Amino acid sequence: MNYIVTKTYDELSKKAADIIAAQIINKPKCVLGLATGSSPVGTYKQLIKYNKEGTVDFSTVTSVNLDEYVGLDGTNDQSYRYFMNDNLFNHVNIDKSKTFVPSGLAKDLKAEGEAYDNMIKELGGIDLQLLGIGLDGHIGFNEPDKYFVKATHEVKLDESTIKANARFFEKEEDVPKTAITMGMMSIMQAKKILLVANGKAKKEIVEKAFFGPIDPMVPASILQLHPDVTVIFSEE
Ligand code: GLP
Repeated sequence: MNYIVTKTYDELSKKAADIIAAQIINKPKCVLGLATGSSPVGTYKQLIKYNKEGTVDFSTVTSVNLDEYVGLDGTNDQSYRYFMNDNLFNHVNIDKSKTFVPSGLAKDLKAEGEAYDNMIKELGGIDLQLLGIGLDGHIGFNEPDKYFVKATHEVKLDESTIKANARFFEKEEDVPKTAITMGMMSIMQAKKILLVANGKAKKEIVEKAFFGPIDPMVPASILQLHPDVTVIFSEE
């Protein structure tokens, strides 16, 4: 594992964006796995800058996102589709028809999960997966559990996740109770993984996940088994 500690959030964002930019430059037709949450926002800002300057071209990139709230459609400003459009896709030259987010509106979420994993497989897998980490160690919305869940699946959100994510909603009751998330198989089969974690509050969980035992109660700890992981942590 490549473990990088930066002093500031800006530095973290620049390093993460540089790694993603290098991926796109090395393989313009790459598949990027993308993440939501506040941690990658700076990374996306930097990538927008690179795109506007002409350093990074998104025109042949395909993206697959990790997760979506159940019941929110893409026009809802709390949905992860909206987040991605707003924080990245609307500002770079990516072909929106090649940006994928699991649907939280699918009637049959199991079938949606299977179709999502099959699509990723057909795309040739993920070249670079960007991840954040939840305070309880979740990646995507893979919450602590007795076992790691392989497939893209529906998940009941933990109380702590609902509380943590309430800051983005008007009130806590508005946070959906369930979500659909990419499972560990598609994440672990990504060729490279880049995890960004920001802030002192994340220090303990980052240490547990990367320097403690591999334990499904700390979902991100499975990443210790991946051959190409970079973790960037900023204490700011
Ligand atoms: C959400 C997302 C995760 C993200 C996490 C941490 O729960 N589903 O993918 O990593 O939030 O978010 P933040 O970076 O805002 O702490």
